[in-house]
Amino acid sequence: MKKVAIAATAIALIAGPTLAGPDDDNLVINDETTLVTETAAPAHMENVDTIYSGWRFRTDETQALQLDDFDNPAMIFVDQAMDLFNTVDGTEGKSCSSCHESVEGFAGLSATMPKVMNGKLTTMEDFINGHRAKAMGAEPWKWSGAEMQSMVALIGLQSRGMPMNVAIDGEAAPYWEQGKEMYYTRYGQLELSCANCHEESYGQMIRADHLSQGQINGFPTYRLKQAKLISRHNRFRGCIRDTRAETFAEGSDEFRALELYVASRSNGLSIETPAVRQ
Ligand code: HEC
Ligand code: HEC
Repeated sequence: MKKVAIAATAIALIAGPTLAGPDDDNLVINDETTLVTETAAPAHMENVDTIYSGWRFRTDETQALQLDDFDNPAMIFVDQAMDLFNTVDGTEGKSCSSCHESVEGFAGLSATMPKVMNGKLTTMEDFINGHRAKAMGAEPWKWSGAEMQSMVALIGLQSRGMPMNVAIDGEAAPYWEQGKEMYYTRYGQLELSCANCHEESYGQMIRADHLSQGQINGFPTYRLKQAKLISRHNRFRGCIRDTRAETFAEGSDEFRALELYVASRSNGLSIETPAVRQ
């Protein structure tokens, strides 16, 4: 009980006045694709009835940038990834498009990632770098580098509008358990867990931010503050750092497990990739 009291105090210190929860706007992209931004929480979530996309917590101005692909600043990066897709790289003299006729062939894949492949929990970044090494003889891309996240966004866009649907049973179960434990672990001097902020306190203002449920259905996400696409692991790092804790590395096994667990809390929400956030 003591720990709970400390966490509640920390939240009270950094959080401002309570705002109403998510707003009730509809996310319709390009006047044609309606996305699910609110749905019943997946059965494994014990403390939450309804899950909401982070889009529902943003200001009207930020929300508007996601309504039309011509206004979405992330689309420049998606275009760059399309160029990379057709660019020869590595000792084998191949580009992605030497073997993959079109990116549309990746539709649905992002909804199921991360997933266990050959006995290892595999993210999209792993997939891409593995492929670059094996199929192309090319150097790996940096996890949160522009090339990597642009490619993850391009592949994710092919699944936009489809529901997140990661598997948490079978071979995935031990990773999922590890990620869940991390989600409820209190980090840093502030002794705050992901759950303290994103499960117990969503809807509140924390400094200048309207706290969401910390969903990852829009990643990679264009952050206006950083003026670039940011990876899931980069966001996790930032959030843990905010509790004044040492954090894990991008691409670490810990963050892979956390990614699986957080993704499973988004199961049922539409993929929004690439989303726009403050
Ligand atoms: C030499 C041929 C070759 C090249 C070059 C290549 N791939 Fe692949 N790729 C394959 C084959 C074959 C598969 C299916 C078998 C597998 O999963 O490994 C595949 C599968 C994939 C998948 C998973 C598809 C699915 O639905 O499971 C992704 C994503 C992917 N490739 C992305 C890329 C990207 C991005 C590049 C460029 C950076 C690339 N590939 C370059 C041959 C290639
Ligand atoms: C001190 C409170 C706090 C803690 C603890 C915290 N976050 Fe966050 N997080 C924020 C704030 C503030 C934002 C920006 C506003 C928002 O989207 O909720 C954010 C944003 C996010 C986002 C982006 C959501 C979107 O829609 O783009 C994700 C994902 C996320 N957090 C995951 C996590 C995870 C995983 C943990 C635990 C490792 C965690 N956060 C811990 C405060 C916190």
